Amino acid sequence: MPERATQATASPTPYSDPAWQRTMAIKLDFNNMLSGILGPLEGLSPDEVWALQPRVMEVHRQIRERSGRGGEFLGFLDLPFKSEADLAAVVSEADRMASLGDRHVILGIGGSYLGARALIEGLLNPYRNELTREERAGRPRIYYEGNAVDADALHNLMAMLPESRPVTLADDVTVNVISKSGTTLETAVAFRFFQQRMKQVYGADHAPRVVATTDAARGRLKAIADAEGYRTFKIPDEVGGRYSVLTPVGLLPAAVAGVDVREVVAGARFMAERCQNPDLHQNPAYLYAALQHLSYRARRPVSVMAAWTKRLEYFTFWYDQLCAESLGKDGQGRIPISTVNTRDLHSRGQEIQDGPRNTVVTNLIVESPDWDVVVPAIEGDADGLNYVAGKHLSEMLLGAAEGTAYAYAKASRPSMNLLIPQLNGFTMGQLIYLFELSTVAEGYLMGINPLDQPGVEEYKKFMFGNLGREDMRAYRAEFEARLKGSSDFVV
Ligand code: PA5
Repeated sequence: MPERATQATASPTPYSDPAWQRTMAIKLDFNNMLSGILGPLEGLSPDEVWALQPRVMEVHRQIRERSGRGGEFLGFLDLPFKSEADLAAVVSEADRMASLGDRHVILGIGGSYLGARALIEGLLNPYRNELTREERAGRPRIYYEGNAVDADALHNLMAMLPESRPVTLADDVTVNVISKSGTTLETAVAFRFFQQRMKQVYGADHAPRVVATTDAARGRLKAIADAEGYRTFKIPDEVGGRYSVLTPVGLLPAAVAGVDVREVVAGARFMAERCQNPDLHQNPAYLYAALQHLSYRARRPVSVMAAWTKRLEYFTFWYDQLCAESLGKDGQGRIPISTVNTRDLHSRGQEIQDGPRNTVVTNLIVESPDWDVVVPAIEGDADGLNYVAGKHLSEMLLGAAEGTAYAYAKASRPSMNLLIPQLNGFTMGQLIYLFELSTVAEGYLMGINPLDQPGVEEYKKFMFGNLGREDMRAYRAEFEARLKGSSDFVV
């Protein structure tokens, strides 16, 4: 297959070079949100956008002074400036884990899962588990569990792991269990299975193969880790779960898999420095928050994140959680939807183009893929596709993205583009920081606390009560006394 390599995934980038950094700056193009293109009824007027500046200044002050709601959890703002010693500790533990085995299991859910997976899927070969260890540059195969209550999934992974001490490194296992609270049911139950297996396979020697990332002092996981002699990494108190990807929660698994986490942090720092300036004309995070806030108030609550590369699919899931759990409060909140195009143009595309006028699309567009392929010409043109022969797939994708945005605009459907020069650790770091800051700013514009999750805590009480947890008996009693529906209404 004819190929053109623009940049190989594994090749290191000169991410400390300011000139190179500037070429990697992410841009937000919001022309297709505006009345000039969409018409006055469906589009925002530029004046309306810039008029939000005084409120944005107030939000900026609250964020800087940490005086807004949930301000005690704004520690994520400092993470891009973390010390080299912190990063070195993560990298050296990652190297140690990678050297011990070729099967690495990551246990965690929500904010303790999605960020790590977004980094790994975004930055490494999607088929990496099928490559040889050499092709993976000595990094292990990665498996994810503890992110659901799913007997089939758990069983299938356990069945693949050894039951007695392996003779080769290829079957050796290491485990990273991640839970800030240390009590999350899904992760804790999965850990019980994996811990047992590790003890069965490695006996007393199993401890160096298990690492736990959790709260510094509280929670059962910390107590278990201390008692068993597992290495632990701390999730800072002032960083909430879904804002923790730049702590060892996201960085350690990514580094084990082979991501250059220093580059990711450098990208986040670049965006953090850019966002020191609260001017909406300069600050993509505040501008994104302002655009979403105005659109939400203009009755557009459905927010489609459209990744124009499969590599960013897990990033859209990470953002989905960040948005939903942060902003879905007090009867308000956008409804995030994750899509990958062009795949989902064949499903969601219909509704966005022609359904209710309640959507805003954010396109994540990588301008230059790592690899590009050229469509071959064939003799006879049996499939009638010679008109695209000689074109690069990336040109075709860009043509599809531009055509889709035009079709939406023509029907007065708003969309905006985040333009990502290349997908690498540096641009991923920028995206992470941009969306974290933007989410907090949007929450403050809405008047809610974007850093707590009371709704999530609520369901847990009844779930735990229902499952028989002793201290949740009151919830079980309430649940049992609930009004029950009638069997007449079950068909
Ligand atoms: O954002 C959050 O706080 C949540 O999504 C948590 O990350 C998730 O519930 C997992 O919690 P824990 O890390 O305590 O297991």
